Amino acid sequence: MKYRYSRHLFVTSLFVFLFSCQFVFAQDIPTEPAAISAGEALFKANCKSCHRVKEKLVGPALAGIEGRAPSIQWIKDWIRNSSKVVASGDEYGNKIYNEYGKSQMTAFTSLKDDDIMNILAYVKDEANKKAEAPVAGPTTASAGSGDGVSSTYLDIILAGMIIILVLLLVILGLIVNALKKYLSQKELSEEDKEEVVSPYSLGSVVRSPGFIFIVVFLVAALGFKTLIDGLLTIGVQQGYQPKQPIAFSHKIHAGQFEIDCKYCHTGVMKGKQASIPSPNICMNCHVSIKSGTNTGEGEIAKIYKAVGFDPATSQYSGKTAPIEWVRIHNLPDLAYFNHSQHVNVGGIECQTCHGPIQEMDVVKQYSLLTMGWCISCHRTTDVSAKGNAYYDKLLEVHDKKTMKVEDIGGLECSKCHY
Ligand code: HEC
Ligand code: HEC
Ligand code: HEC
Ligand code: HEC
Ligand code: HEC
Ligand code: HEC
Repeated sequence: MKYRYSRHLFVTSLFVFLFSCQFVFAQDIPTEPAAISAGEALFKANCKSCHRVKEKLVGPALAGIEGRAPSIQWIKDWIRNSSKVVASGDEYGNKIYNEYGKSQMTAFTSLKDDDIMNILAYVKDEANKKAEAPVAGPTTASAGSGDGVSSTYLDIILAGMIIILVLLLVILGLIVNALKKYLSQKELSEEDKEEVVSPYSLGSVVRSPGFIFIVVFLVAALGFKTLIDGLLTIGVQQGYQPKQPIAFSHKIHAGQFEIDCKYCHTGVMKGKQASIPSPNICMNCHVSIKSGTNTGEGEIAKIYKAVGFDPATSQYSGKTAPIEWVRIHNLPDLAYFNHSQHVNVGGIECQTCHGPIQEMDVVKQYSLLTMGWCISCHRTTDVSAKGNAYYDKLLEVHDKKTMKVEDIGGLECSKCHY
């Protein structure tokens, strides 16, 4: 009895032990869709500027990381503070750190265990997806074929119009011939013939007062419009597109690699100026990306010169020289414009004012930036009052559903002029 009892106890405790092991060691990567999509959001917000799942970017491709890294716990420690892992002398950590030119990964101390497991779930799911049509392909391919389609349509329409025109000419010719034949058969005086065949000759039309008036009017109107346009654009630099000291391309960085505008233009959420990134921000990535596909090493070497970095030895000399970017957008001093007010509070996309920057190799001024431009947007745009108690009150007081910027004083001279 006693013996059986203790054997029982042993078996149960073995079970309990194994069961708790499940919790402590087996950290299975979740496979539920909810975890994967949560992981996707975290990945896009935190990791995408440096990592892709299947391609090497600033850091390694993350596919297969769960099999490659020493353990899941190691991955968690690494993501929370990779420099601590490197400093601890960890062999694997030091190996990849050196492999990637000693560039330091951002520390994500605020990511919880579950967050990291979700990211891994997303990475694993993404890695297992069958290689669909080339990853970068679809956007460019579809854009290309889209263009193709519309231009073929245009061609067809044009060809159709030309055919119709030719047909019309042929028919007209036939009618004229038939009429001529008919006239030559009939007995008519010369004077009558003249009148029937061409009631208006070209000469008489050109000499008529109506025609002269129309021509003079058109020429005058065109001249006047050009003059007005010219006057209105004095001091307006729409389309201004200067050459920059480094061939920096938004199309590559913000378009192809989808780096968030705010990663570089750090002031945009909190201040008046969007600010141009300092070369240190470039170095987060270019410590390891030493040459570009289009420009080779020459352009990126200019960043190294600015921060005094020797790519051969990965040493900083301490000698720095600022990059002299040419400013493109520039309001006169008398006007006040604040980015955070529009981007952060107003929730307006950069592209609304700056155009499709992510498609520009060289930035150009997209909008007019005149007072009329500011005012007409303030007249037509609703204030985004969602979740803003201050505006909720205002709406209540004024008994309105929505408010234009105009209604909160967006047309007052002093709001925009010092
Ligand atoms: C600023 C760029 C940067 C960001 C952002 C970044 N990483 Fe990294 N990561 C790196 C670099 C560079 C390495 C290579 C090791 C090194 O140089 O430190 C790396 C290495 C890793 C490794 C080890 C890869 C391997 O093959 O062993 C993992 C795992 C990792 N990162 C996960 C993440 C996750 C998850 C995020 C987002 C939460 C993230 N990283 C965000 C730059 C970055
Ligand atoms: C990798 C860093 C980086 C990213 C990401 C980036 N920019 Fe820039 N941006 C720069 C640099 C450097 C300049 C100055 C050189 C130039 O004009 O090309 C600049 C210039 C600009 C200018 C012109 C500034 C002037 O002189 O008036 C605008 C506008 C701008 N960026 C908007 C954007 C928008 C919108 C996005 C996101 C779609 C974005 N940028 C993403 C680095 C970046
Ligand atoms: C409501 C219109 C508007 C929006 C939205 C907007 N900008 Fe601007 N931006 C301007 C104007 C106007 C200027 C010129 C400001 C000046 O000269 O004081 C400017 C200037 C800039 C400059 C150069 C000067 C500076 O402030 O550092 C950069 C860079 C820039 N914007 C980036 C951005 C980015 C990135 C976003 C989105 C996160 C954005 N802008 C959203 C209107 C806008
Ligand atoms: C978040 C990462 C990241 C940051 C930050 C970054 N870059 Fe890049 N940069 C890249 C990547 C990725 C490439 C593409 C490399 C290639 O062509 O293979 C690149 C390419 C380039 C090229 C070469 C383009 C070509 O095709 O020849 C230049 C020049 C460049 N970057 C300048 C800059 C400058 C200047 C800054 C700072 C204002 C900067 N980059 C910041 C990731 C970054
Ligand atoms: C694309 C539309 C748009 C353009 C263009 C625009 N604004 Fe605005 N502006 C807004 C919106 C929306 C708000 C309200 C933000 C909020 O408080 O919710 C705003 C608010 C403001 C305010 C604060 C008004 C107040 O009473 O608090 C000022 C000042 C301002 N804008 C100045 C300018 C100037 C100067 C320009 C031109 C250089 C300009 N804006 C161009 C949309 C625009
Ligand atoms: C929404 C912002 C905004 C408001 C409101 C506004 N302005 Fe302006 N104003 C501007 C901007 C931006 C410029 C510069 C544009 C340019 O140079 O084309 C400007 C330019 C001017 C200029 C021309 C200065 C010059 O050198 O050409 C005068 C004058 C002026 N504003 C007067 C006023 C008066 C008066 C009011 C009130 C009735 C007013 N503004 C309200 C934004 C505003």
